[in-house]
Amino acid sequence: MKYNKYLKYIDKNIKNIPSNSTILLSGGTGGLGSSFLHYLVYLNLNVILLVRNLDLGNKIIEEVKKKFNGSTSKLELIYFDYLDLDSINNALNILKSKHIDYFLNNSGIYHQKIQFIDKFEKTYLVNFLRPVLFINKLLKLNKNIIVLNVGSISYSFTKFDINDIYLSKARNKNKTKYYGLTKYLLMSYSMYLNLKGYDVRLVHPGIASTNLFAKKNKAYPKLFYIFITPLIKLIFMNGFKASLSYLLVLNTSKTSIKYNEWFGPKYLFHSYGYPSKYKLNKKISNINLINEIGSKIDKILEENY
Ligand SMILES: NC(=O)c1ccc[n+]([C@@H]2O[C@H](COP(=O)([O-])OP(=O)(O)OC[C@H]3O[C@@H](n4cnc5c(N)ncnc54)[C@H](OP(=O)(O)O)[C@@H]3O)[C@@H](O)[C@H]2O)c1
Repeated sequence: MKYNKYLKYIDKNIKNIPSNSTILLSGGTGGLGSSFLHYLVYLNLNVILLVRNLDLGNKIIEEVKKKFNGSTSKLELIYFDYLDLDSINNALNILKSKHIDYFLNNSGIYHQKIQFIDKFEKTYLVNFLRPVLFINKLLKLNKNIIVLNVGSISYSFTKFDINDIYLSKARNKNKTKYYGLTKYLLMSYSMYLNLKGYDVRLVHPGIASTNLFAKKNKAYPKLFYIFITPLIKLIFMNGFKASLSYLLVLNTSKTSIKYNEWFGPKYLFHSYGYPSKYKLNKKISNINLINEIGSKIDKILEENY
């Protein structure tokens, strides 16, 4: 098993996640989410997967169960697509009667074609606006759910303009920066909720070879997929190593995380290595700016949903 050494890391370092906890997980069919699922099952934790591809979700569950056949985890699937508002509301209805301890918002898309759905741009919706809507509704069901949002170090290459909250100007410029800005907004809103007293935390995987950079997304010219994708696979982490950061956040108590701290790999400008906790860049952690962004976003949610 290529993740055996990571199971040893877990045995040594991950001891504080209460047994019998239930984790609600989005993006569990992706590179990081499916790797992370292995660890949750290894730790006998219960998981509710929010997936848009039920067949793939079922297949992954079967594979993981087979690998850890002694595990006592209970696993279930709910159909869920951030681009389908009915599926979000339906999932919330089902979740009303479930006990949830953690929600890991791990879905995300990168560099996809600009496309408008229900007034908003697709990447803006999937990476930021719909997760924020869902999280607000989930916290209304139970304010004690611990929420973990997956950000990205790409936020640090961006320059956010408070007068461009819809990112209408930014989306037409650089694609990586646009992706980074959708994560910037998700991260700012997470800190806003955290400052309001909710337990909302931030994590990122560094750089990992997953479906995020898949050819089917047609983000780059063909040559990119011939030369760069294999290089990413060779140089950077696999989903198993990268998703250890997710476990470290779950393992940490609320009192030892400040609003402006997050979790991600230790080395190579936080793109690679075993996880650690560290401070966010000052440009994203200014409390006045966070509150200004948070209020604007609340208004967008109120006006549209
Ligand atoms: N890989 C990296 O280097 C990296 C770096 C920084 C941050 N991240 C973040 O890590 C998270 C996981 O990404 P990954 O690398 O594992 O990529 P991935 O393999 O492409 O997985 C993305 C997951 O998001 C799901 N998803 C996409 N659109 C969705 C929608 N409309 N509604 C609900 N779920 C949707 C996908 O579902 P399907 O299987 O149905 O497509 C998949 O399960 C993302 O938030 C990403 O931005 C990744």
